[in-house]
Parts: sequence; C-alpha cells; structure tokens
Amino acid sequence: MRDEGLERSPALRASRGAWHKRAVQEYDAIILGAGAAGLMAAMTAGARGKRVLLLDHAEEAGKKILISGGGRCNFTNLNIAPDRFISNNPAFCRAALAGYTAADFVALVQKHGIAFHEKTLGQLFCDGSARAILAMLLEECAAVHIDLRLGQRVTGVTHDGRFRVATAHATHTAPALVLATGGLSIPKMGATDFAHRIALQFGLPVIPPRAGLVPLTFADDALTLMQPLAGVALDCVARAGKAAFAEAMLFTHRGLSGPAILQASSYWNPGEAITLNLLPGRDANASLVALREARPKAAAHNALADLLPARLATALAAAYLPPRTMAEQPGAALRKLAQMLGGWQLTPMGTEGYAKAEVTLGGIDTAALSQRDMQAKSVPGLFVIGEAVDVTGWLGGYNFQWAWSSGYAAGAAI
Ligand code: FDA
Repeated sequence: MRDEGLERSPALRASRGAWHKRAVQEYDAIILGAGAAGLMAAMTAGARGKRVLLLDHAEEAGKKILISGGGRCNFTNLNIAPDRFISNNPAFCRAALAGYTAADFVALVQKHGIAFHEKTLGQLFCDGSARAILAMLLEECAAVHIDLRLGQRVTGVTHDGRFRVATAHATHTAPALVLATGGLSIPKMGATDFAHRIALQFGLPVIPPRAGLVPLTFADDALTLMQPLAGVALDCVARAGKAAFAEAMLFTHRGLSGPAILQASSYWNPGEAITLNLLPGRDANASLVALREARPKAAAHNALADLLPARLATALAAAYLPPRTMAEQPGAALRKLAQMLGGWQLTPMGTEGYAKAEVTLGGIDTAALSQRDMQAKSVPGLFVIGEAVDVTGWLGGYNFQWAWSSGYAAGAAI
C-alpha cells in the first residue's frame, strides 16, 4: 500500500530527487531496514554528515509505524525504565535508553508540531494519524540526504574490511553496516529473520526467537467456557511467572487476549500456567458473601452480574453454582467460585504465533554487542538495533522507544 499523503509531500518528492542525483556506491554506512530503528539511525548519522544508504525490501518505509497503536502510534511511554524490557541481560538496554530518552523523542514530535496525548499508564499517542510520525522521520532523513531505496532485495552481505551489500541492482560498500530488519512478527507485512541470519553469518549468537505480546490459545474445558464469551472484556490482574499486569482482558474465539494477556504472554513459557484475578482489588470470598446478603432473592447469574460482565456472570453461575437464589447458595459452592474468581489457574495450549504477535522475544544476543553503541564486539563496524536485538519492551510504547534509543545509539557512533 502506498502512502498517498507522503507521496503528495513536495518536500519529500524533491528530496527523493536529490537522493537519486547524489546516489553513490560507497557510503559511510549502510542500514538494512527502514523501520522505526533504521530511520532513527539514518537521520542521526546523516545529521553528523555521514553518507548513509538505507535499504528496505518493502515498497514503503515504516509500515509497522503506520499500523501501530490502532493507527495512532503509541510512540513512547512516560514510564520508560529498564525493568520494563525483557532480555537475557536486563541491564543491557539501560545505556541506550538513557542516551536517547522518551523526552528526546517527545521534543522531536513537538518540533514537528504533531499533537499527542497520554492515553493511560504513561502511553503517548498521536491525536491524529500515525502517518505523522512516519512523515516526520522521513522528513528528517530527507533533510540530511539519506539515500533511501525501497523495494530492494538484499542478495548477500560480505565483509573484507568494508561491508559489501549486494542487491539485485548493485553492490554497495561501507565501513559500517547496521542490521535494522526487525523481528519475525507479522510475516504478512514483510517481517523476516534476515537480521538473525546475517548475525549468525558473522558469528553473533541468537537467542531463540518466540512470539511476544500475543493472544493465548486454550483447549478442552477452558476453551469450551471461553468460546461463547468471545468479545467479553473485563479488568483483571494477569500473572505469568513473576510478572503481574493489572489491565483489561478479552475473551476470543480461540482463548484470551487484551492488554493484560498480551503483557503476560511475554513472560509465559509453554507448559506453564497463568493466573487471572477477575476481581482485582477485592476479596472474592467476601464479595460473594456480601452479594448473598444484599440480593438474597436474586438468581445467581443476575446477582453475579453486579460484579462481572453479564455474559461471564451467566457462564460462571452455570459452571459453579446450583440453579437457586443467592440465599440458597451453599457456602462451599460460593467458596469454590471465589477461589476461581480470585486466582483462575489456566494452562494455555499455545499462542496465536507471529501472525498475531506485536513483537518478537529473543533475537541477537546482547552479550555480543556493546551497550553503548550497539556494535558487535567481535565485528567492528557491524551494528544491530531495534527488535532484531534480544530486548523486548512491554506493551505501551516501550518497543518504539527501544527502536528510537538503540537507533540513536548506533547512528551517533557510525
Ligand atoms: P520494524 O519491523 O519496524 O522495521 C524493520 C524493517 O526491515 C521493515 O521496514 C522491513 O520491511 C525491513 N525488512 C525486513 N526484512 C528485510 C529484508 N530481508 N531485507 C530488507 N528489509 C527488510 N510498539 C510500540 O511501541 N507502540 C505501538 O503502538 C506498537 N504497535 C504495534 C502494532 C502492531 C500491529 C505491531 C505488529 C507492532 C506494534 N508495535 C508497537 C511494535 C513495533 O512496531 C516494533 O517493535 C518496531 O516497529 C520495531 O522497530 P524495528 O525498526 O526494529 O523493526
């Protein structure tokens, strides 16, 4: 899909013309992947006078920016902190996040006059379209004469003192190569394991990737209960491993989704159970006893609807309580339901996989990279940034901030 708005931009058309006139085979840096991280690295290096070639196999740059945040791009978060990122080395992201902060990105957004707002939990979204963020990055790149080439299939990368990147059309060389081709999520949009493969080619270890921020799927009795509830949403606390998230959850035709579940999915390992508290901030047992006293003549499902969405109340009443009024409910049945409501233990069958995952966990091992500039310790001049690296943020603008921060770190060092 071409971005009509961007295509109409005279500044961009003019600068594209300039890029092509300036096109040379030799560069100071070649950046592979014109997504969030690659664009940031390019504009940062370009602003320092570096000649940068930015290559992408897609026909359009920054496609994930355009679809992000439901089309409004949750571009950063006010609560960025290293403990909100998952990595084999949780301290690795600290230096890059401190070197280019959420406030730095907000300043850029303000410089471009893009209106934004805080939605919830520190999440910053555009008031209008996510296109404004992409247009901003492309303008910054154009202003510093980045040679952006789209629809380029990279056929090989070699290194003989300089990096050589071959495409169907030409071979480009540079003393610095930046891998910014992202993770495996949403293959339908062009996601590939390219960065992982090139990293392995250069001897950098890769932590096995897996889908993160992804809906969970269930089977058997759990799915039988969940399926008819598809579309029902409620607040909960979802726990996986040591992590707990108090946000909304959503029943789906295949299991569970919604922010609390997506967050928990990044901490979930196959075979493990997750725990859901469906009455967050309340004592479930005391709530049910109080309900029995307050509404003795009500049918159980009607009374439960005071605490839960009506469809869920009906399903749980049918599954846990005899078909009697609240006053007639045996204490043991109420206690069993309270136990479930306060700590529903469920073992997911799996996840909806990369097709539905917002991010990829794992990736190029941070042990092989300098945390200061994202450069490979064993291959000087080779940089890896963004989602390709084994650093994955929470839901809520954390992953874009990692793309900006790691992109800036590399762009400032090239
Ligand atoms: P990104 O995937 O953005 O860019 C990689 C680029 O490399 C792409 O342009 C791709 O075409 C290119 N490429 C891939 N393989 C290639 C190859 N072999 N050759 C050449 N080019 C290649 N995060 C957040 O913080 N806030 C949000 O609101 C959202 N929303 C959101 C919604 C959805 C639906 C998804 C799937 C993801 C999000 N995210 C998000 C996550 C966020 O989009 C993601 O973490 C960043 O885009 C990662 O930036 P990168 O630049 O690393 O990869």
